[in-house]
Amino acid sequence: MGQGMVMSGADLAIVDMNKEEAERQAKLIVETFKRDHPDATKVPKVTAHYADVSDPESVEACINEVIAAHGRIDNLVTSAGFTENFEATAYPIDRMRKLWAVNVDGTYLFATAVARHLMGRKAPGSMVFIGSMSGAIVNVPQPQAPYNSAKAAVRHLAASLAVEWAHAGIRVNCISPGYMLTALTQKILDDNPDLKRQWISLIPQGHMGKPEDLMGPVTFLLSDASSYVTGADLRVDGGYTVT
Ligand SMILES: NC(=O)c1ccc[n+]([C@@H]2O[C@H](COP(=O)([O-])OP(=O)(O)OC[C@H]3O[C@@H](n4cnc5c(N)ncnc54)[C@H](O)[C@@H]3O)[C@@H](O)[C@H]2O)c1
Repeated sequence: MGQGMVMSGADLAIVDMNKEEAERQAKLIVETFKRDHPDATKVPKVTAHYADVSDPESVEACINEVIAAHGRIDNLVTSAGFTENFEATAYPIDRMRKLWAVNVDGTYLFATAVARHLMGRKAPGSMVFIGSMSGAIVNVPQPQAPYNSAKAAVRHLAASLAVEWAHAGIRVNCISPGYMLTALTQKILDDNPDLKRQWISLIPQGHMGKPEDLMGPVTFLLSDASSYVTGADLRVDGGYTVT
């Protein structure tokens, strides 16, 4: 997603609890840009920052750090999140609280902090929350009720904030990916080799998505090409949820 934004001319601040990985990705994005645009006169500024998105103080400190590095924030993509597969009757409550804190509180804390910054500048902006198709359907066979309901909350948070902040020119949309091959799903598939076959059998396009499949959708929603789109949920799932 970051690569899509930089290809479209944006500077970028990558935020993650794993700062080393954020730094590695920032370097990779700049190297890819330079490789693809050898004659470019301006190389995008891509920085890496630490935050625990579930912690209000950490989020505030991070936002200040990003503003110090870039001067301002115009757009936001919230993507930090994780899933776990426990049956609901056996889900440890501390794990469930942590899952909600990262997926839901993290989205809320970042969005409200960036909205305050935009409103303070009287500037418009666009936000994209990464939800999941799990916020609209129930995945099978793996049990993940807290994740599914957290992602439903993310989707409705986008719709609610879209309405609340429309007067300020701040658009808020949700992208709900289907099964994408990332570190998160790779770990689940490594533990359950049979699962990939089951998942793919339910995807009309017949394969899992790649992170690159989100470049276009996120760039569209952050750009003026979508200036009359707010409160929407864009499913990027190979057709999974329409069957
Ligand atoms: N992979 C999929 O199939 C899929 C499908 C639908 C939705 N999603 C959603 O997409 C988003 C990204 O998932 P992914 O597959 O890239 O997972 P991932 O595990 O590869 O990446 C998640 C990132 O979030 C970071 N993170 C976790 N907790 C954090 C915290 N408290 N503060 C800051 N950063 C934190 C991790 O360090 C990691 O870099 C998640 O919200 C996930 O729920 C993924």
